[in-house]
Amino acid sequence: MTQEVTEVDEIIDKYGGDGSALIQVLLEIQSKNRWLPKDTLNRLSQRLNVPLTQVYHIATFYKAFSLMPKGRHSVSVCLGTACQVRGAPRLLDRVVEALKIKPGETSEDMQFSLDTVNCLGCCALGPVMVVDGEYYSKPTTQVLEQVLTAKQIEP
Ligand code: FES
Repeated sequence: MTQEVTEVDEIIDKYGGDGSALIQVLLEIQSKNRWLPKDTLNRLSQRLNVPLTQVYHIATFYKAFSLMPKGRHSVSVCLGTACQVRGAPRLLDRVVEALKIKPGETSEDMQFSLDTVNCLGCCALGPVMVVDGEYYSKPTTQVLEQVLTAKQIEP
C-alpha cells in the first residue's frame, strides 16, 4: 500500500468511513495533497461506499477541488465585473508575464498555479490578486514581483 493511500485511509478513518462526509474528506485530501489523484478517488468510492460517478461529480463541481497536480503556491486574479472595470485584465497580463503560465496552468517547477475567479466579495479593493489566501489590492508591478519572489524562495 502506498504512502498516499495510507494517508487517505487515515483521513477516511477520521470521519468514521461515513459517506455523508465525502465533501469534508475531499477538502482535507485536497488541502494536504493539493490535488485529487484518480487512485484516491477510487479509494474514496470503495471505502465510503459512494458510487465513483458521485465522487467525480463532487470533485469536478466545486472549484476548490483539482483533478490535476497543483503548484506549491496558488495565485488567483479576480475577473469579476468590478475588478474588470478597475483594471483586472491588465493585472492578469502582468501576472501571466511574471509566472510565464496562463490561467488554469501550473508552472513546470510546480511552484505556482494560476487561476481566475469571479468576485471575491471585496470589489472596492479591486483589482484583487490572492496568493496562498492572502489578498492584494491593486498590486503594483513592484509588489507583484516582491510577493512572487518571496513565495519562490520560501522554504
Ligand atoms: S469583482 Fe473582484 S472582488 Fe468583486
